[in-house]
Amino acid sequence: MTSASQQPTTSDAGIPVESDEHSLTVGPAGPILLQDSYLIEQMAQFNRERIPERQPHAKGSGAFGHFEVTGNVSGYTKAALFQPGTTTDLVIRFSTVAGERGSPDTWRDPRGFAVKFYTSEGNYDMVGNNTPVFFVKDPMKFQHFIRSQKRRADSNLRDHDMQWDFWTLSPESAHQVTWLMGDRGIPRSWRHMNGYTSHTYMWINAQGERFWVKYHFKTDQGVETFTQDEGDQMASADTDYHTRDLFEHIRDGDYPSWTLHVQVMPYGDAVGYRFNPFDLTKVWPHSDYPLIKVGKMTLDRNPTDNHAEIEQAAFQPNNLVPGIGPSPDRMLLARLFSYADAHRYRIGANYQQLPVNAPVVPVNTYSKDGAMAYRKTADPVYAPNSKGGPAADTARHGSPPSWYADGDITRAAYVDHSEDDDWGQAGTMVREVLDDAARDRLVDNVVGHLLNGVTEPVLVRAFEYWSNIDKTIGKRIEQGVRAKAGEKDPKASGQGSPARSSMQHKA
Ligand code: NDP
Ligand code: HEM
Repeated sequence: MTSASQQPTTSDAGIPVESDEHSLTVGPAGPILLQDSYLIEQMAQFNRERIPERQPHAKGSGAFGHFEVTGNVSGYTKAALFQPGTTTDLVIRFSTVAGERGSPDTWRDPRGFAVKFYTSEGNYDMVGNNTPVFFVKDPMKFQHFIRSQKRRADSNLRDHDMQWDFWTLSPESAHQVTWLMGDRGIPRSWRHMNGYTSHTYMWINAQGERFWVKYHFKTDQGVETFTQDEGDQMASADTDYHTRDLFEHIRDGDYPSWTLHVQVMPYGDAVGYRFNPFDLTKVWPHSDYPLIKVGKMTLDRNPTDNHAEIEQAAFQPNNLVPGIGPSPDRMLLARLFSYADAHRYRIGANYQQLPVNAPVVPVNTYSKDGAMAYRKTADPVYAPNSKGGPAADTARHGSPPSWYADGDITRAAYVDHSEDDDWGQAGTMVREVLDDAARDRLVDNVVGHLLNGVTEPVLVRAFEYWSNIDKTIGKRIEQGVRAKAGEKDPKASGQGSPARSSMQHKA
């Protein structure tokens, strides 16, 4: 019986169904009939409910909100969304990197911070993290890095030995690993962390002048973190703690916000700067390039269908609008390809037609057809044409963001500035940013991580790695591991072969 307030159930074709509970059988004890189309539809649809999870960043959730410009950066960019007083709607997705879709929110890991701005000049995606730097600086190593964070081929277990094997063979990871092993490696919630482009981008103003820029979204809730113990406890008490925290605060009207600041480098400074300003493993010191306030991002609406609006949200760093361009950061340049490719596989060729991914401005594209095409194609279907089809406005948009490049085709590291080393900024963080208590926690976190399955010769390389960052911290980590390994397994004392513990799941 349907009550007055209920709608009658229908099939996916809108046809009223006969029962929500009973399949069609020959008599109460008889076989099920193939002609029970509704049962078959339910089973078939169920079998197709899952789409592939994102390769990295599989676990996450998000919300909707808006960005309001409160400062004036119009001297640096003509991008419509950054003009004074402009408000732009957006969707954001937060995530962890290494875990699968059901993994705990409070594992030690960087967090994704991906924002899609529905601007008046098309979608602008800022696909950043909660850290200002990254583990590698060449896209050739990204896939290998992620594999080292995921699961072994044989046991299907995560493995700290393989993580440290990769890191210690990749000294450029030192700054990000120091950040990760410090307090900010486990945020208390997504509301309590900052977001960064990490990469350098180009901004172009109305006069065509170019600038290099890095974004910093600073949380208005204040940075708060969990200790390793708190994170571990929460991982078992509430696997989805960060997801729940965001949803419930927005549901209850306690809207989180972030203030966006940028660091702006004049175009000509890049060549002579003390290190390569496009190196993703480095920050620009605030003393060189101070923060300039741009505006405020507020999240005030939850999704009503997480699959449709968050799981199918497709962020891609190549969605750049007029006034914003890429930089020579080769990690960024590779990302400009990778994401749309991932979306075509994970969601389908027409993923940009889904409501969460569709822009708020008209789409006048010559792309057509494909699986699940929803937007209608109109003639003419080719360009150039003399039949009134869309035509590129080259007078207005004909100059791509550009920088001068030349040289022989090569495969090489970019090392051409005096401070292009891998250890310096990590050491600065240890010595000048962390206080004594934070340094103690860093040592504890690294010692605990290394004791969790890291064996010779990787272990010795890890001690050298930390000594390169800071001699004292390196010594303390080595002493901590040797002492604790000895407690656990007296035979291992002094030789550093700590027994594998059962806590293999922690990142
Ligand atoms: P500043 O003293 O101006 O800035 C220090 C920065 O460190 C602040 O942004 C602060 O963030 C951040 N910070 C504080 N505690 C931690 C922590 N436990 N983990 C990670 N970051 C933390 O110095 P500089 O700009 O000269 O940079 C010095 C070092 O600070 C860098 O080598 C880098 O390691 C780190 N850093 C620098 C950033 C930058 O963009 N310049 C950004 C983040 C880190 P907050 O203000 O939000 O508290
Ligand atoms: C997700 C590739 C570096 C932030 C992804 C995905 C791929 C990918 C394929 C899954 C996309 C999907 O299926 O939806 C790469 C490559 C990189 C790189 C090839 C380097 C060469 C980075 C860096 C950052 C970053 C440096 C941050 C500054 C993110 C975020 C997501 C993501 C936030 C999740 C987006 C979402 O919530 O949907 N990356 N990535 N990635 N990546 Fe990267």
